[in-house]
Amino acid sequence: MRRRLWLVKLRGLAKETNVAAIKLKNEAGRFGLGSFKALGGAYAISRLLLNQLNAGRETPVGLDFLLSDKGRALNSKVILCTATDGNHGRSVAWGAQMFGCNCVIFIHEHVSEGRENAIAAYGARVVRVAGNYDDSVREAKTTAAREGWTVISDTSYEGYRDIPLDVMAGYAVMVCEAIDQWGSANLPTHVFLQTGVGAMAAAVAVQLQEAYGDDCPKIILVDPINAACFYDSLKHGTPTVTLGGLETVMAGLACGEISDLAWDILYEGVDAVVAIDDDAAKNVMRVLAAGNTLDAPMVAGESGASGLAAFLALAHDDAARTALGITAESRLLFFSTEGATDPEIYQAIVGKAPQQIAEGA
Ligand SMILES: Cc1ncc(COP(=O)(O)O)c(C=O)c1O
Repeated sequence: MRRRLWLVKLRGLAKETNVAAIKLKNEAGRFGLGSFKALGGAYAISRLLLNQLNAGRETPVGLDFLLSDKGRALNSKVILCTATDGNHGRSVAWGAQMFGCNCVIFIHEHVSEGRENAIAAYGARVVRVAGNYDDSVREAKTTAAREGWTVISDTSYEGYRDIPLDVMAGYAVMVCEAIDQWGSANLPTHVFLQTGVGAMAAAVAVQLQEAYGDDCPKIILVDPINAACFYDSLKHGTPTVTLGGLETVMAGLACGEISDLAWDILYEGVDAVVAIDDDAAKNVMRVLAAGNTLDAPMVAGESGASGLAAFLALAHDDAARTALGITAESRLLFFSTEGATDPEIYQAIVGKAPQQIAEGA
């Protein structure tokens, strides 16, 4: 059976780490874009265009019109932009191309050439700006205001929440699939969620709370140590900016400023936050790629399995397990949010090309 978009049971890893179950939702196959982010940006574009086209119309048009020659001709007047550290920009560029819009994607100085090329392949103009991810967010915002473009951002800020909310609504698909595939027995007790600006974690938290109510699993956020904006914000009880280059191999998580929309959801709903280093992220990529007698080899990118990376880093630490309430009866849910979105970086870390892993070589 092909395991695209599946909730994969890792029986061997659960045995090795002395928990009852580990299940990992694999987003590597999402729409051929390699990450869950494909669900958000492109969906938000469709919502924006439909809202604009339907304003004042008696008979509203739908997605089929947006994709028609006539719809695409109208959409060609629209210029969209966003900042990204890779995956969100790919989703926006893909959506813009699909609907016939123009698209400009701002990347910061640490985004890899592989990720830049992957965005440009969807016809977007890619603009590299000095500084870190947060600088690229500001550049997208000011350029859009000056030029009359529309920002399709996954992060929200003062006065800008509607589009990021649509982006998060798109991510809900991933969570609903996981909930559905988990089933109604022996529900998860813990979920580990890697955070960039926090939109993914917030979308997951909302859906889990909605689905499970009082049985909602403990929610544990995972930050890279060098971009620990949720760790810092939760520690201070208020959104706190993490300064510096934010250098980490977990490119999708290299954010210093959290989304205020995500903060509103996560502030009260989170049980713990863990910060991990790059070695932990690389280790989980190699562990998943190697597989074991019970678990088939699996490809996860640098940011993809960082939730699982955090658990593996503390799995044999009794104090940390006790603090998080993890026992031999615990059932853990993770989201592998990307595959090898930069195959060269993947190969440098794992020592094999992603296709070799997928083919079981
Ligand atoms: C693969 C991957 N996982 C997780 C995240 C974190 O998502 P968010 O920025 O919504 O917290 C990102 C963000 O780009 C990502 O690319």
